[in-house]
Amino acid sequence: MKNLNIGLIGSGFMGKGHSVAYNLMPKIFNPLPAYPRLKILGDITEALAKQGAENFGFESWAVGYEEVVNHPEVDIVDITAPNQVHKEIAVAAAKAGKHIYCEKPLAVTLADAKAMLDAADKAGVKTLVGFNYLKTPATLYAKQLIDEGKLGDIWHFRGYFHQDVLADPMLPFSWRFEKKLAGSGALGDLGAHIIAIAQALVSDIDKVSALTETFIKERPQASGGSGYSSTVDLNAPKKIVENDDAVHILTKFKNGATGTIESSRVAQGRKVYLAYEINGSKGSLRFEHERMNELKVYFSEDPEGTRGFRTIIPGPEHPMYGSFWPVAGCGLGFGDMKTIEIYQLLDGIANDKLLKPDFKDGYKVSQVIEASLISAAEERWVKIDDCIG
Ligand SMILES: NC(=O)c1ccc[n+]([C@@H]2O[C@H](COP(=O)([O-])OP(=O)(O)OC[C@H]3O[C@@H](n4cnc5c(N)ncnc54)[C@H](O)[C@@H]3O)[C@@H](O)[C@H]2O)c1
Repeated sequence: MKNLNIGLIGSGFMGKGHSVAYNLMPKIFNPLPAYPRLKILGDITEALAKQGAENFGFESWAVGYEEVVNHPEVDIVDITAPNQVHKEIAVAAAKAGKHIYCEKPLAVTLADAKAMLDAADKAGVKTLVGFNYLKTPATLYAKQLIDEGKLGDIWHFRGYFHQDVLADPMLPFSWRFEKKLAGSGALGDLGAHIIAIAQALVSDIDKVSALTETFIKERPQASGGSGYSSTVDLNAPKKIVENDDAVHILTKFKNGATGTIESSRVAQGRKVYLAYEINGSKGSLRFEHERMNELKVYFSEDPEGTRGFRTIIPGPEHPMYGSFWPVAGCGLGFGDMKTIEIYQLLDGIANDKLLKPDFKDGYKVSQVIEASLISAAEERWVKIDDCIG
């Protein structure tokens, strides 16, 4: 059994998500393409790095990312640090000849995303971006149905990702609200997932017309913690929020389909409300992540009288599910998407298969983000091909 040695950077929300999946993956998949060996974890302080390594089962730790990227035994550099350091770390990893698994969005700017793509292409390393919502058995099956032509020509895509995780104005300022550190707000943080799904299931996007808004204009400064785990003093001074709380995008796809993409990080009552509906000439399908173990399908060729949306509950006959459970309906969760993602990462590297979505796909998502920001600022339609990093 070949080992692939992992160097993880960041021990926050996603650092935990990836680590849990590395630990679980060898117990779920059989045969294993390779064994993920948790070699080294890097974070910005000794305390965070040491604690992360101990909690998640890494053999060693380092302060910062350089030692991880240049570690002679590391095969895969896994980037779960905030957006603004993705480029610096990915370019260094590519130069060191390491395969790269990077969280979304690829980068803060389109130019940075292009630099990452170019560096990985030049080094000839494999890349994977953490658009994990593409990995649910329901969405993998949706893609299969579309690729098999079961929905006919695709006419419409309507997708959204709404959360209320940041709807409380007393939630402190963190890297997510700062342009230099995060890039856009709800658009890049949440909308990026929907853009990735739209492009994977329908086609590349041709042009967009977007509207963005920031409802909570300032937030108290954080007194500790990081990201969603930041803490606050009630009397803390306030900082101006620099990016969008919500975005609405009209989309025209290159295959002729029309659609809408929406995202809000302040939508009260919505948790991980990632959902999409696709309508084609012969049928439709609908997915909602809060009910991630269901896919609604409608086929116009079903017999009249019984025709209607029906609910498919994923089981062993659907993509990836059978590795988890032998009977339908047991249900997978958020962590299982990451476990599937990591299985595909190791399989792609060990068996020289194409990884999807790779940095090229991540760059295309960044093009749509850039086009949407320009469109919202200038109140006009923007062609995606005119946005080049
Ligand atoms: N795929 C998903 O569903 C999903 C969900 C949440 C976050 N994300 C993405 O994951 C990334 C991280 O988000 P998070 O919520 O885990 O953030 P977080 O703030 O919880 O964790 C980030 C960690 O990175 C560390 N870090 C920061 N700069 C570093 C550096 N230069 N070197 C080493 N470590 C560094 C921080 O100290 C922290 O421990 C972001 O790109 C985010 O968009 C993806």
